[in-house]
Amino acid sequence: MSAQLGGLLSPFEFGGLTLPNRIAMAPMTRQFSTDGVPGEDVAEYYRRRAAGGVGLIITEGTYIPHDAVGPSTRVPRLWGTEPLEGWRRVVDAVHAEGGAIIPQLWHLGAARGAEPSFNPEVETVSPSGLSLAGTPIGRALTLADLDELVGAYVQAAENAKAVGFDGIELHGAHGYLLDQFLWAQTNRRDDEFGGSLEARAAFPARVVRAVRNAVGPEFPVVYRFSQWKAGAYDAKIVDSSAELANLLNILVGAGVSVLHPSTRRFWEPAFPSENSELSLAGWTRHLTGLPTVTVGSVGLDKIFLGGQRPEAAAAIGLDPLVARFEAGEFDLAAVGRALISDADWVNKHATGRLADIVPFDPVHQKTLI
Ligand SMILES: Cc1cc2nc3c(=O)[nH]c(=O)nc-3n(C[C@H](O)[C@H](O)[C@H](O)COP(=O)(O)O)c2cc1C
Repeated sequence: MSAQLGGLLSPFEFGGLTLPNRIAMAPMTRQFSTDGVPGEDVAEYYRRRAAGGVGLIITEGTYIPHDAVGPSTRVPRLWGTEPLEGWRRVVDAVHAEGGAIIPQLWHLGAARGAEPSFNPEVETVSPSGLSLAGTPIGRALTLADLDELVGAYVQAAENAKAVGFDGIELHGAHGYLLDQFLWAQTNRRDDEFGGSLEARAAFPARVVRAVRNAVGPEFPVVYRFSQWKAGAYDAKIVDSSAELANLLNILVGAGVSVLHPSTRRFWEPAFPSENSELSLAGWTRHLTGLPTVTVGSVGLDKIFLGGQRPEAAAAIGLDPLVARFEAGEFDLAAVGRALISDADWVNKHATGRLADIVPFDPVHQKTLI
């Protein structure tokens, strides 16, 4: 067993599957799916990661069937004959390598922006018609819109199950639609979906409950959430572990089976003022007992800010990751950029071929290697 990844190379039960190890591929938007259809190159890209030893692939954010879902015509969609045929080829290719794969269901809400390429005539919608910066954009969602949105999440989840995916992940992080409900700055509603943390969590919980009812009790429903938002790295949806406990109780009560707290650095304490070294993943697992995924700069030899510019902070290596795993902070570790550069990152670790690992460079994002 590789000294580098230690117990992370042990098997893990996920839904009805036994994953060969605890390394997940983090969801990463690539925009190589023309008109929303994942083609052969996308299938090959994911197949290579499965062949390279990744235990669980979480796909790039995929659009749910809603007119104002997002700005891009090149983000893959989870509805329609051609996109779903494309996804079936992706799923079959990953399964043929013995891998497991779940799609990330995505709606951008206000982050769709003012000049979308996809459905430009449709108005952008969000909890309160506010961008992440707090400026007006589009319009606030009506109660009828919320019903329609729940239906869109359900349809996407049912489509994912029908094409053979092994579960789904709801993108509730980074300042996109579900997170816009959780964040007080973007949710100024005065109905039952705004106000207290419990009220702000009510719509995400409603989506979870509806999806859970649609896919049945055994199908994994992963929920990704974060404190940080795109362009607002210091943002917070909860200020303490007690508030985190309230939020997680609501999501778990609604039917989430795996939690995926997204952090930019896996080793950072979530609530330093509480005199605890626990990461957000550590707190999440401690509070819920549910399988939890950690993430953030695993396997990077430099720390990149905004994905591009190397930061001064030193690389931390994998020993602290393995130590936190052995201490019971999480069950799976998601790897993002290191897997963009090297599809064989896991197998190279498992077989001690560390010198062969291709280090991440932002230039690798330009193609599907
Ligand atoms: C090119 C790129 C695209 C990303 N797209 C998504 C996405 O679609 N959904 C999501 O939840 N996170 C997305 N992220 C964040 C990653 O999932 C991950 O949390 C982040 O890159 C930190 O992990 P890493 O340091 O191992 O790369 C993206 C990151 C990158 C670099």
